Amino acid sequence: MTSFDLGTPHLQMEQRGPLAYITVNRPDARNALTTAMYFGIKLACDRVNADPDLYGMVITGTGDVFIPGGEMSSRHTDGTFGIEPYLGGVDILHACGGNARCTTCRVEFIDGEPARHTVAERERLAFKGLSGVRLSCQIVCDHDMAVRAISRLAGSGRPDSGPKPQPFVEPPPEFV
Ligand code: FES
Repeated sequence: MTSFDLGTPHLQMEQRGPLAYITVNRPDARNALTTAMYFGIKLACDRVNADPDLYGMVITGTGDVFIPGGEMSSRHTDGTFGIEPYLGGVDILHACGGNARCTTCRVEFIDGEPARHTVAERERLAFKGLSGVRLSCQIVCDHDMAVRAISRLAGSGRPDSGPKPQPFVEPPPEFV
């Protein structure tokens, strides 16, 4: 039996013969889906579609509830939440470590800009007098987006890009 990492401890993916089994395992929250779990299921679909030895996928759950829907609180602490980790390999600064303070992580949106902001992002952009950009550390990566990184390590004179951002939005997000 082969297992795959879907990026969150709340999803397990195993290959059993020609089928992939995805087990939603978050019984303490009645299996409510976090953002990382949504992306994990998308990743599982991509893997099944790309593997000629897999003919289908079964999604099952632990506990007495299958999936009631999405996590409605801010308890998205199980995996990738902000856009930052999806920029892996992209030369972009994040000097404050993803805390909505430095604005070096700002990006221009080409497509898919989310309508909502965190309060921290809105206040920091206003304080710095910045418009037409967003702070990537404050963006919830819950749909496809295209962005252009603005502040790059190359040519910045900085020794590194900055502390690694957490896999969730900080400070704890309040959206407007
Ligand atoms: S504002 Fe500093 S990393 Fe986003």
